[in-house]
Amino acid sequence: MLWFVLVLAACSAVHGSMHELSMDSDGGNVQWVVENQNGSISVPGRVPGGVYSDLRRAGVLPDLLWQDNDVATRWVSYDNFTYSTSFQLRAEHLATRAANLVLLGVDTVAFVELNGRPVGAADNMFVRYVFDVKPYLKEGLNTLRVSFASAVLAAARRSARHYAAPACVPAVYRGECHANQLRKMQASFAWDWGPAAPGQGLWKSAFIEFYNSAVIRSVTTHITKEDKQWRLRVKVYLEMAGREETGELGARLALGAQGAVTVAKQVTLVARGDGTADAEIDMIVSENVVSLWWPNGYGAQPLYDLSVTFTSNSSQETSARSIHVGFRTVEVVEQDIAEVLGNTTQSTGLTFYLKVNGYPLFMKGSNWIPAHILPELGGDEDTVDSLLQAAVEAHMNMVRVWGGGVYERERFYRRCDQLGLLVWQDLMFACSMYPTDKEFLDTVRVEVEQNVLSLQHHPSLALWGGNNENEVALRGSWYTHPSEFDKYKAEYIKLYVDTIKPIVHSLDPGRRYVVSSPSNGLESEREGYIAANPYSPNYGDTHYYNYLADGWSFDIYPLTRFASEYGFQSLPSLTTLKTATNKSEDLSLDSEFMAHRQHSPNGYSFIESEMNRHLQLFKNDSKYFEKFIFYSQISQAMSIKTETEFYRQSQATWYTMGALYWQLNDVWQAPSWSGIEYGGKWKMLHYFAKSFFAPVLVSPRLHLTGKVDVYLLNDRLVPLLGGQLLVEVFNWTSLTPVDSKTYTVSAKPLSAQKQDITLDLWKQNKKEVFLRFSLKAEGVAESPMNYVFPVPLKDVVGLQKPTIQITVSHRIRLHSGETQHIVHIVTDRAVLFLWLEAPAPGRFRDNGFMLTQPYLRTAFLTAGNITTSELQKAITYQYYLNEIS
Ligand SMILES: *[C@@H]1O[C@H](CO)[C@@H](O)[C@H](O)[C@H]1NC(C)=O
Ligand SMILES: *[C@@H]1O[C@H](CO)[C@@H](O)[C@H](O)[C@H]1NC(C)=O
Ligand SMILES: *[C@@H]1O[C@H](CO)[C@@H](O)[C@H](O)[C@H]1NC(C)=O
Ligand SMILES: *[C@@H]1O[C@H](CO)[C@@H](O)[C@H](O)[C@H]1NC(C)=O
Ligand SMILES: *[C@@H]1O[C@H](CO)[C@@H](O)[C@H](O)[C@H]1NC(C)=O
Ligand SMILES: *[C@@H]1O[C@H](CO)[C@@H](O)[C@H](O)[C@H]1NC(C)=O
Ligand SMILES: *[C@@H]1O[C@H](CO)[C@@H](O)[C@H](O)[C@H]1NC(C)=O
Ligand SMILES: *[C@@H]1O[C@H](CO)[C@@H](O)[C@H](O)[C@H]1NC(C)=O
Repeated sequence: MLWFVLVLAACSAVHGSMHELSMDSDGGNVQWVVENQNGSISVPGRVPGGVYSDLRRAGVLPDLLWQDNDVATRWVSYDNFTYSTSFQLRAEHLATRAANLVLLGVDTVAFVELNGRPVGAADNMFVRYVFDVKPYLKEGLNTLRVSFASAVLAAARRSARHYAAPACVPAVYRGECHANQLRKMQASFAWDWGPAAPGQGLWKSAFIEFYNSAVIRSVTTHITKEDKQWRLRVKVYLEMAGREETGELGARLALGAQGAVTVAKQVTLVARGDGTADAEIDMIVSENVVSLWWPNGYGAQPLYDLSVTFTSNSSQETSARSIHVGFRTVEVVEQDIAEVLGNTTQSTGLTFYLKVNGYPLFMKGSNWIPAHILPELGGDEDTVDSLLQAAVEAHMNMVRVWGGGVYERERFYRRCDQLGLLVWQDLMFACSMYPTDKEFLDTVRVEVEQNVLSLQHHPSLALWGGNNENEVALRGSWYTHPSEFDKYKAEYIKLYVDTIKPIVHSLDPGRRYVVSSPSNGLESEREGYIAANPYSPNYGDTHYYNYLADGWSFDIYPLTRFASEYGFQSLPSLTTLKTATNKSEDLSLDSEFMAHRQHSPNGYSFIESEMNRHLQLFKNDSKYFEKFIFYSQISQAMSIKTETEFYRQSQATWYTMGALYWQLNDVWQAPSWSGIEYGGKWKMLHYFAKSFFAPVLVSPRLHLTGKVDVYLLNDRLVPLLGGQLLVEVFNWTSLTPVDSKTYTVSAKPLSAQKQDITLDLWKQNKKEVFLRFSLKAEGVAESPMNYVFPVPLKDVVGLQKPTIQITVSHRIRLHSGETQHIVHIVTDRAVLFLWLEAPAPGRFRDNGFMLTQPYLRTAFLTAGNITTSELQKAITYQYYLNEIS
């Protein structure tokens, strides 16, 4: 039976005697054709896929991300495309009681016909559609057609009936209007960091399932610690072929060498009106036989296979599913701040922090946007893996999956489970008011139910967020007139509180659902869900962006309990920009190309003014554009370093417990807030994150008065005792310190501690010196050096052109399959932001160095094939200097 190809759909489904006929281009032997409305285009299509990808593959479209093709190809999103295929069935394949067409991802507005008969319609890309096709299947040739409507036109049509503000994204985004009318990736209609490309297609797998009794759709787990044991409540959600079915429901938890826990019971499933049923199994697991799951940086991430099987009594047919579980507890703690900070007049409000396995952990991380602007490409495994791996290397322990993208694929969360990245999962609502007509609420209900059920079991999943910035948008009248406040507030409550919240609570009772980000958490709820000031420093989380003050100054940042977004723009490297254009005139700040890519209404002026506060760039520099890129990355990296260290330090005084900067990744080659460029190249920011998120860090705070406070940050479960902190004063002209002093420092576990040190090293001329901080402590293998630059770098005296020698010695094959080349750097003077570039694909272990010692060793990691001597010849570098080089 060649055509019975087993599909490993989301959640590693393992099916017994039920059959699945794959409708995927790779999984089965079906061939799809995609046609536009008037028939002028008819090309091979792919499932999973999308029309932008298919037309590109067929040569109808150029590269979407090349030059201004995002706009030049926009006609695609106004046309209507039909995907069709045909497949053979034999009589015996039609013998099962149930036959469903399962579409795991439909983007977005579509109707489906089988053999010319309508079988269903779709309007939500985040929903799994299951259509009963039993009555329509026949022996021999069957044809399946999925006819899509232009999402842009469908959104406009809905808006005419159910308008919700805003109508359109700002004109400078060159995007489309009314994204909020459709349950489709909101960023498809353009964002400030991305182009519009509202596509159509089946973006996830499709198959026909044949069965007689029941099929398991989801398995949820509720894991609680009870004294010396774990209680694991497994809830199984099924769909039924008939009204009633009896059988055996079994669950098996594999414990590796320790054996397994197996529980089975007889159940009678009774289908509800919609054909669904559920059943529960409880397991008790002794705490001795499993190990705790920890976020990255605190321990390992052991995962245990849990397989669940339903075997029907009447047909002996089985349906099975396996998932991985991790044993850990996660709570979002919102308690009286006085209990932590003591009962002082400033102690008003609530904490907002994550307690994992009983420990309050500072969340370090970044915000995740889709890995590609085309949802069909956003699941690319290499891209997702390398981005998440990069997050781990930068000591992140949390990513926030932002509400304007998609609920990521199963694999994303599995990798987060394996890597120890906690996930703050937004529901997919962002920066808009949303309609609340019945049709909309009905589809949202299904969407939330399905996504909570499918993601809930992941140990990485930490909390749910109802939306991105919609509370603050309404409070601040971003899109609405203040007179419309009551109407929109009522709709806000109807959607996130009355509709969504009860669903999340009933399906996932153990996990916090915060209605919005930012919000005041419980306090927002007390204040009727739209707080007077959703940015309150005393409650919940905040988002903070300020391009008008000095980003390198500790004095500009407002206190918060949890910083869930903050950031600064920078430009991607020339190498990355050159993957979007080959016209040399485009590579200039005032080119149309660069204007096209900049969606900020203020253009490049904010980057420039931030940069000019500290760095000297002359307009007549022959390498102006190249330096602008480099300096923008320095400026971004230093600003986010400062802001992040400010939040980490503020754990001591304000119990700030999170710093997730905006944003981890990019969807195109353009100025953006990302730390990693489209294509995977790390900006200076991501290299800096490795240091500013280091588990043990000495973090000085320079005040405007010139006073320097010193904090010791210790994100470990053990105290840091008797650390030796060396503070050195360097003249910019020399690599030998002019003064130095050693202090003994300590910090409690999981703390930021301000040290009792008065730095009185200002006898010298501030323009001529800088401070270097380095720490040695038992049990601390590595703690990055840190610096204080007393005056803006453009004003320093004595920084001179260095002589730098870079050599590459031997190479080593790593377990990952990559090759590591050892790189040696020798200098005769202090060098600021030394930035190495290699032409081969790969990256340096560190980059953007402050060279304050004569010799430094690093490495270049590559999956490519370059010899040591080729690499040595090819490495180029840049650094910062107050003069035209
Ligand atoms: C058919 O559709 C294509 C793409 O939308 C358009 O370029 C073409 O002009 C249309 N042809 C006719 C005859 O309408
Ligand atoms: C797509 O369908 C809509 C609604 O039927 C229609 O208004 C529009 O003209 C169609 N687009 C094309 C390019 O035919
Ligand atoms: C189902 O089959 C099992 C084993 O054959 C039997 O013990 C059980 O009673 C049956 N259950 C029902 C409800 O028929
Ligand atoms: C803080 O002090 C106030 C006034 O003295 C008192 O009412 C309150 O209970 C105290 N709170 C805590 C947490 O100790
Ligand atoms: C630039 O790229 C375009 C599109 O790929 C190509 O047609 C053109 O020849 C290229 N021009 C140069 C100068 O390489
Ligand atoms: C470039 O401009 C700066 C500042 O206006 C000026 O001091 C310098 O002489 C100029 N250099 C060249 C090479 O023109
Ligand atoms: C820094 O070095 C220069 C050159 O040796 C010297 O003139 C200057 O006085 C030094 N400044 C300080 C503060 O040591
Ligand atoms: C890498 O280079 C070596 C030596 O030049 C060669 O033998 C090998 O085939 C190359 N491997 C790849 C993947 O290109």
